[in-house]
This record gives sequence, C-alpha cells and structure tokens, in this order.
Amino acid sequence: MGPEAAHSLVTGGVRATQSFVPPIIHPVYSYDRPELKQFLWRVFFASPVGLAAGFDKNATMARALSSLGFGFLEVGSVTAKPSKGNPRPRLFRLESDKALINRMGLNNHGAERIARRIKRIKHKGYAPLGINIAKTHDGDIVGEAAIDDFRESFRILSPLADYVTLNISCPNTKEGTTFEEPAALTELLDAIFELRREMNSEVPVLVKLAPPLSDKVVFDSLIEEIVSVCIEKGVHGFVASNTAPDRKNLKTSSARLQKIGSGGLSGRPLFKRSTMLVNYIYSRVDRKVPIIGVGGIDSAEAAFEKILAGASLVQVYTGLVYKGPRLVKSIKSGMYQLLKKHGFASIKDAVGSGTEALHEAVDQSIIKPTG
Ligand SMILES: Cc1cc2nc3c(=O)[nH]c(=O)nc-3n(C[C@H](O)[C@H](O)[C@H](O)COP(=O)(O)O)c2cc1C
Repeated sequence: MGPEAAHSLVTGGVRATQSFVPPIIHPVYSYDRPELKQFLWRVFFASPVGLAAGFDKNATMARALSSLGFGFLEVGSVTAKPSKGNPRPRLFRLESDKALINRMGLNNHGAERIARRIKRIKHKGYAPLGINIAKTHDGDIVGEAAIDDFRESFRILSPLADYVTLNISCPNTKEGTTFEEPAALTELLDAIFELRREMNSEVPVLVKLAPPLSDKVVFDSLIEEIVSVCIEKGVHGFVASNTAPDRKNLKTSSARLQKIGSGGLSGRPLFKRSTMLVNYIYSRVDRKVPIIGVGGIDSAEAAFEKILAGASLVQVYTGLVYKGPRLVKSIKSGMYQLLKKHGFASIKDAVGSGTEALHEAVDQSIIKPTG
C-alpha cells in the first residue's frame, strides 16, 4: 500500500474510535515516571515525548493520540486558508534509509475549521496541545499579505493552544524564499508579538527551523543571524528541525531518488544534523529558552542524545511510521533507564549536559544506526 493511503487508513480508524476514548493513557502505552515530568512555559508535560507536526494536520485525532502516551501533541501545520496541498503522489518511503520524503504542500482544512474542531473536542484533560501555523500554500500571498496570513492563523488558533509554533521554513514566495531570512523574520516576529500583546495573550511562541544542509554543521552566518533574531525578539522556544531538501548520504539509489523528485527528507538521515542544530541553539540560549528536538528519533538512545544536546522535549514522526505506536512507550522507558545509568535525577537534570564521553558513547551506539 502507498504510504499516504496507509496513513489515511490508520488515521481513519483512529478517528472512528476516539469518541469512545476517555482522557487516560491506554494501559498498553502508559509509562509514568516522576523523573520524566517537567513544567515548561508553565505547562505540565507528563513525559518529554511528543508527536511532531504533520501527522495530525487537521487535529482530527488529538484525543486518541493522547491515549497512546504522548507527553504532548503538535497539530498542523495549519494555514489561514484551507489547502488541498500538492498533487499525489507526494509521500514516499525510503525503506533502506528508514526515511521518508514528502511534498505534501501544507494540505489542511484551514484555521477556522480546525479551531472549531479543537473547541469541540474540548482537549482539556488530554496531553498539552501545540498548534503549528504556517503561511497559506499560495504563491500569490507574499510580503505584507504573508504576514497578515500568519497573523490571521495566530488570532484564530492561539487561544486554543498550549504553545504556538511558527513554521517559517515553508516557501513564502513563488521563488521559494522563506521567512528564514533575517529581515523577513524580524517583520514576522514583530507582527506576531504585537498581536499577542493586543490579545493579552501569554501563549508561548516557538519557531521551527530547517536543518543545516550537512552533517558537518558548519554554522553559517545565516543560522546565527536567524537564531539571533529569534532571541532578540523574545521567542519562547525553538523546534529543531524541519525536513531537509537535500539527498546526501542515502542508501536509496539515485535513480529512485530522481524518480521521487523534490520534497523534504525526514527520518534517520536527519538525526545527526538536527541534533547538531539543537546543540548549537542550546549553546546560544542555555536553559532560558527550551528547545524541542525532532529529526530521526526512533529509539530511546536517539531521544536521549537530543536531550543531552540541549532539547527539553522531543518529537517523533518518521520513527512512528516505521516502528508503530509502541515506540512512544519504549522511548519513555528506555529514557528512564538511560537517566539512571548516567546518574541523572531527572530529564531536567540531563538537558544539555552531554559531556564529551557521553556524546562519544551515544555516538557509537546511534549516530551510525544499525538495522
Ligand atoms: C509527511 C510529513 C508531513 C509533515 N508535515 C509537516 C507540517 O505540516 N509542518 C511542520 O512543521 N512539519 C511537518 N513535517 C516535519 C516533521 O514535523 C518533522 O519536523 C520532521 O519529519 C523530522 O522528524 P522525523 O525525522 O521524526 O520525521 C512533516 C513530516 C512528514 C514526514
């Protein structure tokens, strides 16, 4: 079965059953340890393992997904106007790389409809809900209109969110430029923070970044500048990272890659560089601004490495596709074991404390993944 058809089948089943789901974690998926709990932005996270944006774009499964034991969910990306996204096929499995390539094109039901749905499901009592917003997928919405588009989504959705993520790495013009350009980002953040003040809102605002273009992570001045703008404007957190446009170091044949065409790469090949980005941001913000680490997590060790690199929370998407929902519990229980093994009292204690030796140890076990 094609990957998008498989996704629709699974999500259809999940949606159909969720009206019977009480706000508790199913015993098969439950794993409750005080060491894994944290308060961040005054929000309580029962565990640091969350669902990454893109899996539940329309917030149709939030209740059921909560019962799988996620510590939090990020729904979206939601855009001000609904969008069908790109023509199919637009999602591809790279089995041998444990990766995916997608060019979904921000398909979603739009901010108004999704807001009505979130209100209806009354998410209270379930896992904290992040709402990821992006610019409507329309090459004619550029400049000032692109910022207004973001503001519209923020106005409609932020009152319903435990945190809002600005997905700035999606194209904003026909030429494919994004808000990951210091001047454009400055304007966007000014506009969002002004609206947040007008709304008397205290919702945390996070920024989701694209990964660096290589595992070597020579941090170019652009990433430095982007992070500086975010810090200066007072963002409350970072999500690192989104998918990558390039196709470096893959086992999948170049003929197949050529046939697939363009799209964002996710999964294992993204692990190292997205972790390096977490570590770079951490070195700039210390503990003052929490980071959500995402990219290639498919084991407790990989999740732990993100924490050591400086992430306070982690998210999974592609790992879930390959390993199924039990991955969430196995990360939580494995992470607890790793905390004990390395003498950390809690997740909070471990955040950013990756020593050289620890890095090396984890590096050997997971940066060159087996199987
Ligand atoms: C099919 C698919 C759709 C995605 N859609 C979105 C999206 O709408 N917004 C977003 O911010 N990230 C989106 N992502 C990126 C993920 O949230 C995540 O950042 C990325 O896949 C890396 O994590 P992973 O290696 O665990 O998959 C999508 C990823 C995939 C595979």
